[in-house]
Amino acid sequence: MKVTVVGSGVMGHGIAELAAIAGNQVWMNDVSIEILNQALEKIKWSLSKLKESGSLREDLQNILSRINLEVDQAKALKDADFVIEAVKEDLELKRKIFSNAERYASPNAVLATNTSSLPVSEIADGVRNKSRLVGIHFFNPPVLMPLVEIIKGVDTSEETVRSAINFARSLDKETIIVKDIPGFFVNRVLLRIMEGACYILERGKASVEEIDSSAIEDLGFPMGVFILADYTGLDIGYSVWKAVSSRGFKMFQCSSMERLVNQGKLGVKSGSGYYSYPAPGKFIRP
Ligand code: 3HC
Repeated sequence: MKVTVVGSGVMGHGIAELAAIAGNQVWMNDVSIEILNQALEKIKWSLSKLKESGSLREDLQNILSRINLEVDQAKALKDADFVIEAVKEDLELKRKIFSNAERYASPNAVLATNTSSLPVSEIADGVRNKSRLVGIHFFNPPVLMPLVEIIKGVDTSEETVRSAINFARSLDKETIIVKDIPGFFVNRVLLRIMEGACYILERGKASVEEIDSSAIEDLGFPMGVFILADYTGLDIGYSVWKAVSSRGFKMFQCSSMERLVNQGKLGVKSGSGYYSYPAPGKFIRP
């Protein structure tokens, strides 16, 4: 199957990696070859970690040979059977991508958005045949996180939902089907946790480090709340926050996150956020 992943950032490259591991021919598309090459380096690093831990059945080079880098979106989309969009949370940009996908991909292709927060039914406004558009929401890092949310928009057909479930299962993921509500399921829960942590921090009741160690030691989380926000990207967290707040899911404002984003401190990807990292993109637990 030809799988096209549009957007090669934190999520896009991980999704492309998963699709290649599962045996698909993958076309990864982004705005420049430099960005695509950086994404490929991250995939190589991740594949070598998976090989080390014994979770890859196939030779690394075989998997890599199935990943194609393409800056020209029309070429990347041409005759694709499954399109996954994983670009920033920009409604117009997503609509444009799906309008291109309708034009160039196979007429029966499933059109999937990895949006974290924008309603699938709003994104579908850019699509003529809305029944083919579905949400397929991965979690960071996609290769390690076992769950995928399948979001059924108002017009998504049952057949498209089934294809999305089968695709996610072919990547060895568990699936849940979720309604097209703000934050879907996981982010709705995660946002409330983050909101509580921000509330405590901003009232000076505890520090970032104290809140994070409490999340790990007392609640059993694999990562603290603020380090997870850094890991996922504060720009992503902040845009999810804004998108769901403006659609009726009421939350306190997290001023510390807003301030960091305005300063360009986006977490691991920029080298600092709630914590500092050795270099942009280099994640070592502080
Ligand atoms: N590929 C391959 N291997 C990887 C990897 C990747 N992408 N990322 C980490 N690893 C490796 C590490 O290098 C390490 O290998 P080593 O032992 O040889 O050094 C091994 O996996 C274990 O990693 P860690 O030492 O960092 O420790 P953990 O056991 O904590 O595992 C984790 C890492 C799976 C990320 C775990 O901390 C975790 O589950 N964290 C929570 C992640 C989470 O909640 N994600 C969801 C975010 S919300 C989201 O994405 C939604 C969006 O819409 C905002």
